[in-house]
Amino acid sequence: MSDTFRKAAITGHPVAHSRSPLVHGYWLKKHNISGSYDRIDVSPEKAEDFYRNFQRSGLDGANVTVPHKEIAAAACDRLDDAAKAMGAVNTLWLDETGRLCGANTDGLGFLGNLDQLAPGWDVSRESAVVLGAGGAARAVVWALLSRKFTIVHIVNRTYEKAKAITDAFGSGTVAHGWDKLGTLLGKADLLVNTTALGMTGKAPLEIDLAPLPETALVTDIVYAPLETDLLRQAKRRGHQTVDGLGMLLHQAVPGFERWFGVRPEVDETLRRLVLEDLGVVA
Ligand code: ATR
Repeated sequence: MSDTFRKAAITGHPVAHSRSPLVHGYWLKKHNISGSYDRIDVSPEKAEDFYRNFQRSGLDGANVTVPHKEIAAAACDRLDDAAKAMGAVNTLWLDETGRLCGANTDGLGFLGNLDQLAPGWDVSRESAVVLGAGGAARAVVWALLSRKFTIVHIVNRTYEKAKAITDAFGSGTVAHGWDKLGTLLGKADLLVNTTALGMTGKAPLEIDLAPLPETALVTDIVYAPLETDLLRQAKRRGHQTVDGLGMLLHQAVPGFERWFGVRPEVDETLRRLVLEDLGVVA
């Protein structure tokens, strides 16, 4: 890549809480790259105009956070497969001809985290149980189907939201209400929490892991606290567990590579830096 100064940013509303500048700032410094990564708060009234005229922002690329992931996707000239499947983008860049391209790397972040911390986790890919049916659940379902899981069960308080995901993804996915959880856990190779339950300040995730086969892997996308009650209970029962911090870090990798030309690593120093900033005790 040339030494021209390249600019990227996290865009959304609000963006003050975002750890993306810390993550990309760490990689820019580590690789001695001439570039910047800022925060740009895009108000909801201005969002459509901002993304439709992204070239005018002066940015080479951006991340997109809530609530603009869908508006930004609609403004793109080209979307990757994940973004098409989810109808939402978290990563933008301009191609050589100035066309706006969008990707959704949340699913890749989920996979990158498990690949790094639980190598071989996807060897037995029969049945996965995903708790929750929001945007994060969509990304996780996309990720699991991309790794050829035979069946992905989506379990959600509001059945209709789980059903909307299975309608979008089709065969290999099944929607359920919470009442089916016990039975489903009995056959699961993987359990993923994508709800906010168990996060600091939110209601606890109350779940009995007794039916879960001992070989099942348990992961949570919540990372504050780093060890959620779900992960603690799973560890106590002898399950392999993976915390959610890595998904946040790994989803940033493809964007950085696209904008700045270097594929960065999620290393221990970065994990510690972000944990400290979050005030989370590892
Ligand atoms: P995101 O897009 O970040 O994944 P979201 O759309 O707010 O977040 O989704 C949050 C998920 O947590 C939803 O699946 C939600 O269930 P509903 O669809 O029934 O709202 C789930 N959730 C939140 N609070 C919950 C609670 N107290 N009990 C059970 N599920 C809950």
